[in-house]
Amino acid sequence: MGGEGKTRDSKVGTRKKTFSEVQAERLEQAQRTVLINCPAKISEKKFLTYLSHHGKINSHYFYESYGTYAVVEFSEKDSIASLQDVTRTPGIEEECAVPFKSRLFTLTLKNPSTQAAHQAPVHCHKQSTILINDLVQKLCSADSVSNQLYTLMDEYQLTEENTKLRFLVCSLIQDIACAYFPECTVKPFGSSVNTFGKLGCDLDMFLDLDEIGRSPTRAKTGPFYMEYQMKRVPSERIASQRILSVIGDCIDNFGAGCVGVQKILNARCPLVRFSHQPAGFQCDLTTNNRVAMRSSELLYIYGSLDSRVRALVFSVRCWARVHGITSTIPGPWITNFSLTIMALFFLQKRTPPIIPTLDQLKDLADAEDKHIIEGYDCTFASNLNKIKPTENTETLDVLLSDFFEYFGNFAFNKNSINIRKGKEQNKPEPSPLYIQNPFERALNISKNVQEKQLDRFVALARECAWILQQEDKGHSSLSNSQPWGLAALLLPSVASNCVKGKKKRGQASERIKSLLDSLKINNSESLVNNGGK
Ligand code: CTP
Ligand code: MG
Repeated sequence: MGGEGKTRDSKVGTRKKTFSEVQAERLEQAQRTVLINCPAKISEKKFLTYLSHHGKINSHYFYESYGTYAVVEFSEKDSIASLQDVTRTPGIEEECAVPFKSRLFTLTLKNPSTQAAHQAPVHCHKQSTILINDLVQKLCSADSVSNQLYTLMDEYQLTEENTKLRFLVCSLIQDIACAYFPECTVKPFGSSVNTFGKLGCDLDMFLDLDEIGRSPTRAKTGPFYMEYQMKRVPSERIASQRILSVIGDCIDNFGAGCVGVQKILNARCPLVRFSHQPAGFQCDLTTNNRVAMRSSELLYIYGSLDSRVRALVFSVRCWARVHGITSTIPGPWITNFSLTIMALFFLQKRTPPIIPTLDQLKDLADAEDKHIIEGYDCTFASNLNKIKPTENTETLDVLLSDFFEYFGNFAFNKNSINIRKGKEQNKPEPSPLYIQNPFERALNISKNVQEKQLDRFVALARECAWILQQEDKGHSSLSNSQPWGLAALLLPSVASNCVKGKKKRGQASERIKSLLDSLKINNSESLVNNGGK
């Protein structure tokens, strides 16, 4: 492994926060934060002085998305009320503003012509990944495949700023939902928080109403019980659909910056989908989805255990996207979530394993880690410091190549992938790709995948294993400055060669078959000649 990789690996084992600690800290931070649309040419100093009248500012940054925005975190929540006190409602001539006050503001200059004239635009933080061609070029200047993977991860992973923005959007949606359910919280889950998020990925949000349902400490004395009178519906699913339907309408009608609101209430997990324009990402709001929250925590643990895990997953996800194995449109494609589980499974199967199985994590669990959700056992250790670091020292050069080799030859027709056991198991039903849901064990997380999509994945994996092995044997194209290593795997030509290669290999296997046949004939002839001895 290159020097860079080693340094990052050495971070493993230092005290890391638990998933719940990170969530609580960031959600609280988000409540003290505002989002301000402002002119690109603005004096940062004057801007900060102006806002400081309302309280101390902890941090701020600018970014671009349909205009320039500032994310400003105050040190006290009260500062926001103070800012809101001096904020006007817009006076629009032909339209009418719905008077829902939020923490999303617009700041304008009193005298744009003089105030912006000699002003340079503010520095904006990046909120999206570099173009694939630029990435390929950048990868070529790394000094090993391993460092190519780390470079890709550095370019693609969510930044601190983007993560703050994601928590802020959750908090803004929470403000809307609070109009109905004052005790609710809206929390991010999925790739925004599971350590595998890429800049630009969607924001999965969980409307948590459990605090409302939690029983208060009952009065121990007195002859009575008190309980709320509440509407009753036949199932939790129906309750979720009703809640999401109303919150969806609220977001649509009152949510500043929320556009294209769609209520997808008949999905297995009902959701409201919309685009948060100022943030620049798509949001999926669900409720009653506690298991997914746990699977996000599980992935967070795996992603935090060893730096190779995230590096491999980011590269495999990028590779899959480039070649159309995954898609932004829902359909018969393999999803990022499935690919991540496949990569985790592969890392569990190394000798020695790079990450523990889910059952091993369950064995390390404390009493407070015990979680039974809707009858599913979602127990595993949440304290990262309890998990012994791996003794496996394989480089990512080897792991990437073996990942493709492994899945290029996996018996998908008979085996399923199971990260709870870290072992292949017989498929319980004939879906082309069967990946057991780690918690809802009767579910296949890749049930949507069709044979054709899986075949393409396998063919591309084989082609890529072959390319990396050729380079390893010294047949690399390094000499003529062609993309190499991971960069070579991201070229569109890989997919087209793959189709041609199939034909070539098809012809080759025909040749081998006839060769074997002729050997069989010769052999049986010689057996006859030797009298069968
Ligand atoms: N999930 C699940 N079972 C599925 C699909 C999703 O349990 N069949 C859960 C996972 O916890 C997943 C989360 O829902 O992380 C969000 O799903 P999705 O947005 O599809 O995946 P992400 O992991 O967020 O990846 P992406 O970056 O593609 O959004
Ligand atoms: Mg997602």
